[in-house]
Amino acid sequence: MSDSHVPEHLPRPVFDGVAPESALVDGWARRIESLRISVTDRCNFRCVYCIPEQDIEWLPKGELATLEELARITRVAVGCGVKKLRVTGGEPLLRKNLPNLIREVAKLPGLEDLALTTNGTELPRLAGALRAAGLERVNVSLDSLDPATFAKLAQRDALADVLAGIDAAEAAGLVPISVNCVVLRGVNDGEAVAFARFARERGFEVRFIEFMPLEHGQRWGTNALVPGHELRARVEQVFPLRPAPDQDPHAPSRDWVFADGAPGRMGFIDSVTAPFCASCNRIRLTADGKLRTCLFSLREHDLLGPMRAGLSDAELADRLRAAVTTKELKHHISDGLFVKPERTMSQIGG
Ligand code: 5AD
Ligand code: SF4
Repeated sequence: MSDSHVPEHLPRPVFDGVAPESALVDGWARRIESLRISVTDRCNFRCVYCIPEQDIEWLPKGELATLEELARITRVAVGCGVKKLRVTGGEPLLRKNLPNLIREVAKLPGLEDLALTTNGTELPRLAGALRAAGLERVNVSLDSLDPATFAKLAQRDALADVLAGIDAAEAAGLVPISVNCVVLRGVNDGEAVAFARFARERGFEVRFIEFMPLEHGQRWGTNALVPGHELRARVEQVFPLRPAPDQDPHAPSRDWVFADGAPGRMGFIDSVTAPFCASCNRIRLTADGKLRTCLFSLREHDLLGPMRAGLSDAELADRLRAAVTTKELKHHISDGLFVKPERTMSQIGG
């Protein structure tokens, strides 16, 4: 049993609370406790750092895992010690009947944290149903507070819709709200302070994400990338920060609070300039039921095919355990060994 009185920052036994023979442990002795499932590859935006503008080939419907199949994989993963679930896309709220999946997974004993990453446009319609189904929080992607810059990045004139979605999430109690902002040099890098002000006024966590080479095409490069430390320095010129006292050691984001005690916080996901691979405890499932042990994996482990051929739950758990043993030590973006995965972020699940 895990002891809830032991502070988060103290080391914890590898098999804390889960039988050693069922736990997901990778080849580098990292315990896997976080699963991100993509429920669709479709999206109503065309963010320039993510998805091609046209000629997109969506996965055919029959190749998508059904909500029942996604719930089953999640249940088995939670049985193997997964404690944190993120629902992603494409745009997850485009998946029909999504609240049914949320309802199924929300009741799993052992699942401690359930949230969803969305572009926000469908929240006015769905926030209430998602909350009622047991969703706890949402991360809303919002790259600019300026309508023209927003439209340039998302290739949709939809800033007002996203802000309305954020309001709806707040009203439904999907809090605290996190805002994810991917920063591109010369496009939205001048908005660091505006986003900090937004975080303070609304009590949100705003997280700046470094642009990663997972886009369609060739936009990525050191010219486009804005290091997180640069954004933090810009924020601190106006609003001094101090490290958040409750930093989660496995979270990709380094969190900071405002030194003057204002509400809200700032997070920095410095995936390129300060990789956090050593403490990574995540695996991902694509919308077509393939397990990826890393965002940058070059290899996928098919779960859906074998499941449809009659795999038992015990066999599925064995497959999960076998797959995680191949988890990559780290990404190679900065060491010359990097090979870009074939699928873009919208196909992998952010
Ligand atoms: N680099 C960094 N973040 C990205 N996202 C999508 N593509 C990229 C990329 N190439 C982000 C989205 C969203 C999250 C799911 O992933 O903005 O916030
Ligand atoms: Fe859609 Fe999100 Fe990709 Fe933008 S980043 S195109 S909202 S999946």
